[in-house]
Amino acid sequence: MDTVTVIKHPLVQHKLTIMRKKDTSTAGFRRLLREISTLLCYEITRDLDMTMETIETPLARIEAPVLEGKKLVFASILRAGNGLLEGMLDLVPSARVAHIGVYRDHETLEAIEYYFKAPEDIGNRLVVVVDPMLATGNSSIASVEKLKERGARNMRFLCLLAAPEGIKNFQAAHPDVPIFTASIDSHLNEKGYIVPGLGDAGDRMYGTK
Ligand code: URA
Repeated sequence: MDTVTVIKHPLVQHKLTIMRKKDTSTAGFRRLLREISTLLCYEITRDLDMTMETIETPLARIEAPVLEGKKLVFASILRAGNGLLEGMLDLVPSARVAHIGVYRDHETLEAIEYYFKAPEDIGNRLVVVVDPMLATGNSSIASVEKLKERGARNMRFLCLLAAPEGIKNFQAAHPDVPIFTASIDSHLNEKGYIVPGLGDAGDRMYGTK
């Protein structure tokens, strides 16, 4: 499939610009992340399958559209992925949630797994894997691999920012998983940070730096 969709909605782009600013406060960053993730969730779900259901309004009996199939799964790559969850759950409150813990070894930039919890029947659901930053792609690639090992077959990957290097690596590993992002930035620096980026997403949302 091999697709990358850049979500260019003006509200997404405006909020992203404020998030990038180094002087945006932790509280501001967190609030914007929640808002932007709602908008990203709206875009990533715009082609979901629908089915018709018979309902009764106070005035008439009609056939009306509802989402088809089992509830979605939002799979958060810890810890920064959690920042995208809240806004997405505001929009799809019945979604199931998976958590995947992989950390980046700062020397090798490789992903090491330390936590995995997902719904049992993940194979029958659309799984939206979320991480704000697609940098080297190592954590995202490893997380999608873990989800596939547990049976996930239908996945989409959602991030705020992507580096061209991360997109290339991710697509080589998982050509079947389309990527959705608010921006494709210039490049990765020697420390694996996205440039111009927004810094360390986890640190910015939790105020840990
Ligand atoms: N993770 C981040 O939080 N920021 C980057 O720029 C790269 C990876």
